[in-house]
Amino acid sequence: MKSFENDRNKLRGGYYTPAPIARFLAQWAVGQDSLHVLEPSAGDGEIVAAAAERLGYNATITAVELDGDEAKKVVARGGKRTTVVEGDFFNWFSGNSSDGMYDAV
Ligand SMILES: C[S@@+](CC[C@H](N)C(=O)[O-])C[C@H]1O[C@@H](n2cnc3c(N)ncnc32)[C@H](O)[C@@H]1O
Repeated sequence: MKSFENDRNKLRGGYYTPAPIARFLAQWAVGQDSLHVLEPSAGDGEIVAAAAERLGYNATITAVELDGDEAKKVVARGGKRTTVVEGDFFNWFSGNSSDGMYDAV
């Protein structure tokens, strides 16, 4: 029998990228000169952590995540350079002038 938690995770797409693939994606998308990175649906922060490893001192990561418990994990994994927005990416995007602001998404 399916649990409520399983249904909730399925509805929000709560299935995450494995660490080796997150590192591969970060290597592909985040260059040494990347300054601002956006993770629009951060999950538990695997991709944020992989991107953070590649970024220089002045770089920033903005991560948006709908689920509050998962957003807290992203705060812990992203480090000081990461701003975590707990909420709906589409609301956040339409309320911010973010177009063209990011070197990698
Ligand atoms: C398939 S997971 C991917 C997580 C992460 N990017 C990764 O690759 O491991 C999708 C995540 O997006 C979140 N999510 C779903 N709809 C969202 C929305 N409208 N705004 C922000 N986050 C959302 C879910 O809670 C879930 O953590």
